[in-house]
Amino acid sequence: MEIIRIPGVMQDTCRKQLQKGRSLGFVPTMGALHAGHLSLIKRAQRENDIAVVSVFINPIQFGPSEDLAAYPRDVDSDVAKLRELGIDTLFMPDNNLMYPGGFATYIQVDGLSGKLCGMTRPGHFRGVATVVAKLLNLTSPTRAYFGQKDFQQTVVIRRMVRDLNLNVEVVVCPTLREEDGLAMSSRNQYLNPEERAAATVLHRALTLTAERLLAGGLSPAGLKELLTAELKKETLVTAIDYAALCHAETLEELQDIGQAKEVLIAVALKIGRTRLIDNLMVNID
Ligand code: PAJ
Repeated sequence: MEIIRIPGVMQDTCRKQLQKGRSLGFVPTMGALHAGHLSLIKRAQRENDIAVVSVFINPIQFGPSEDLAAYPRDVDSDVAKLRELGIDTLFMPDNNLMYPGGFATYIQVDGLSGKLCGMTRPGHFRGVATVVAKLLNLTSPTRAYFGQKDFQQTVVIRRMVRDLNLNVEVVVCPTLREEDGLAMSSRNQYLNPEERAAATVLHRALTLTAERLLAGGLSPAGLKELLTAELKKETLVTAIDYAALCHAETLEELQDIGQAKEVLIAVALKIGRTRLIDNLMVNID
């Protein structure tokens, strides 16, 4: 596996592969790789001639009071996992090469970026869109892979790709979960054993709400109340940033179930000091 740290070298390497007529699958990550990440990477390998992964903790998507300094880092283990999978190229740039002095250009996907996670994380999706645009420019992938776990991120990126005519197919992959339903996340490492047990409330409440949605008879407002009440039963939940039933493309909260064929049920909350997100997509056709 080739490990590249310099953006220009990455661009040349990927360009050479594409000139040979090879398809390139790209998976951007912030490292601390778990089975959820690996499922995206394996799919990129299956569907493309070569697979390229980036590990870069993108500082501009973290707010001033967020966990940038504490974000889990485990480079040796990441490299070992990627080698074992037989990844062709790993891009692991230094911060000052991605954001050199005088860096001043950002991508803002209006509207979508301010909803859900954007309400409590202003600037987050501007940071995500900017780094993903940079990474797509450096790799020119045929396909880029993202997890449904970060659903809003996939909506923002799809919109950016459409609006800026970026030549890449965005592939969204299912959320990988622990046996008890907790969505895998690098941030799960922050949870102590009691908090880890409490964290099952996200998937439990989402599943219950999805079942009640499919059973019919409850309005979005009634379902939201049910979802919130279920989350509040867990005493270690210290804050609920949002619990919402939304249109899957606009991320607008639904007033009426008939407004959407696919309903996104999404939650962001804190258990202790750890912020966790999860969602389920319900097809009501
Ligand atoms: P990170 O949180 O490292 O996630 C990298 C990719 O893995 C994202 O597309 C995310 O949705 C996906 N992923 C995380 N947990 C998953 C799970 N349990 N099942 C399936 N996929 C999962 O998301 C980011 O990094 C960053 O915002 C990034 C896109 C790299 C830009 O900096």
